[in-house]
Amino acid sequence: MSVIDEVKQKTDIVEIANQYTTLTKSGRNFKAICPFHSEKHPSFFIYPEQQSWHCFGACNTGGDVFSLIMKKEGLEFGEALRRIADKVGVALQSRTYQTADKEKNERLYRINQLATDYFHQQLVQSPSAKKAREYISRRGISEKSINAFKLGYSPNSWDSLKQYLLERDFSDTELITAGLAIETKPDTSYDRYRNRLMFPINDFKGRTIGFGARVLDNSIPKYTNSPETPLFNKSSCLYGIDLAREIIRQQDMAIIVEGYMDVIAAYDNGFGNVIASMGTSITDKQVKVLKQLTNNITLALDADTAGEEAALRGIIFENALDSEVRIAILPSGSDPDEVIRKSKDTWQQLVMEAIPVMDYAFNRITAGLNLNNAHDKSLIVDKLLPLISQINNLVRQSHYLQKLARLVEISFKKLEMIMENSKPKRRFSQSKINNKTRSILINQQELLSNPIEKDCLALLLQHPELKALSKDIMPEFFWNSENREIFNAYKSIESISSIKEKLDDSIWEYFDNLKTNEIPTDRSEERLSDCILRLRNDYWLRLARKREAILASEAESGGSAAELKNLGDQDLEISSQLRDIHIQRSRVSQKQRKNI
Ligand code: UTP
Ligand code: MN
Repeated sequence: MSVIDEVKQKTDIVEIANQYTTLTKSGRNFKAICPFHSEKHPSFFIYPEQQSWHCFGACNTGGDVFSLIMKKEGLEFGEALRRIADKVGVALQSRTYQTADKEKNERLYRINQLATDYFHQQLVQSPSAKKAREYISRRGISEKSINAFKLGYSPNSWDSLKQYLLERDFSDTELITAGLAIETKPDTSYDRYRNRLMFPINDFKGRTIGFGARVLDNSIPKYTNSPETPLFNKSSCLYGIDLAREIIRQQDMAIIVEGYMDVIAAYDNGFGNVIASMGTSITDKQVKVLKQLTNNITLALDADTAGEEAALRGIIFENALDSEVRIAILPSGSDPDEVIRKSKDTWQQLVMEAIPVMDYAFNRITAGLNLNNAHDKSLIVDKLLPLISQINNLVRQSHYLQKLARLVEISFKKLEMIMENSKPKRRFSQSKINNKTRSILINQQELLSNPIEKDCLALLLQHPELKALSKDIMPEFFWNSENREIFNAYKSIESISSIKEKLDDSIWEYFDNLKTNEIPTDRSEERLSDCILRLRNDYWLRLARKREAILASEAESGGSAAELKNLGDQDLEISSQLRDIHIQRSRVSQKQRKNI
């Protein structure tokens, strides 16, 4: 969560607005005489659930708590933010700290890039890498893959990489932080990787963030990986994703394997949509990257390791992706590398025959058991029910509950009851949270994340060539002041590189994140148009909902909504806008259907 979100979360707009005008309750909301212009009848509204305000009178505008304070006190965004942050006790980082951090990371990317190049040069050219080259050709790795994956060789020396990098003005400390060297005494170090085949591990954008290193013989451990560094977090990487992403998108399918060598073997044989997960658990970050590319994921598992645990892993993955995951089972004792190099057809067939995770679990768990036997039946239920209860998607969950009910001939209702009773009790039962709190929790979430606003800005900032499209965006489409602030700066300035100078340093960190946020690089124009349409749609819908809330409360209190003279005009405007958006959207989806 950004500091801005933190401040928002700790602030209540009702309390703030009440300092500026006298609020009276109106249904779930509050109304008041607008603090910004003189009027007889209240047209200023506060919506606690959305933590927002809107004036339907002369101002005809609204926003979040920051814009309220900015407008009332005549403050800049940064000043308003600092004022509330002070009040609620959130510390804002200083300007120097932020830039220093950013620069440090840039240097770490650079150092990793240099190390990749160095290892690669060694492998390709150095006489001392002869053994490594022989090993590679024994494994059948093509020259194409050596270059595409930038495979390398770390010389059998304690300081060759170190010398190389020190000459290029990097320090011992930086080498240690990057995970390339191991510290001995403070500020002295030796090379971490010696006499190994090097696999650079890249992020989505192709920047090296860490390394895998394999011994050239049968010694143990077979692989050494980078330690955790500011850039490298093992559980959030997908090996090969930078090369595979385009192909995954085109084929609308990704295959996840376990090893570096598996990815490379697949690539060598024309299967470019294969990537390796580097840890057993699948993380949000991995899912986020994958979801933008495809919803069709197949896990390739060795028959020996693929058990209930694998199924559970698949289900967790399914939940995170919110779509079905398939499992391809490889012959016992062999990995994709071996299968593919032996026969491409076998591999293709295995992938084609992959079955949904839960069906796989059914097959596996029922194999060898007797369904006419009460003991075996209860064993099956004991093993399958906990898996089924993990499925978040209710349709899929009842599908498999039905399948199990048919299989063991127990009624669906009874199985459902057993499942409910065996669920671990939550410490705080859901019912303890009353409806009101829950709806606030949900709205808070909505408020804070706001992915469309962020996506839209990230696209604009990362694709200067799309500026023309921004003419369709009104600043009010951005509900969050920080986003509105950045958008206004973007509009007022020619070159993206100087936007930052226009912004208060309190949003620099947030701005940097938007600018470097990993977004897909393809079809940017299409994506941006879609974002804009959604922003527009959300804006008008929000306005419509606010309006309805007012009309309802006015009717309740017997007041006359007619007093709000703007409402009538707005009604027309809202419906015509929404109609137009609807037409544009159906045009887009028609076009997409044609393209398929
Ligand atoms: P494998 O043993 O299947 O690796 O481990 P592999 O890629 O097939 O290697 P080869 O074919 O024997 O050369 C799967 C993955 O688990 C991690 C590596 O990421 C590896 O690619 N691993 C394995 C380690 O991190 N350390 C180890 O000691 C072994
Ligand atoms: Mn292998």
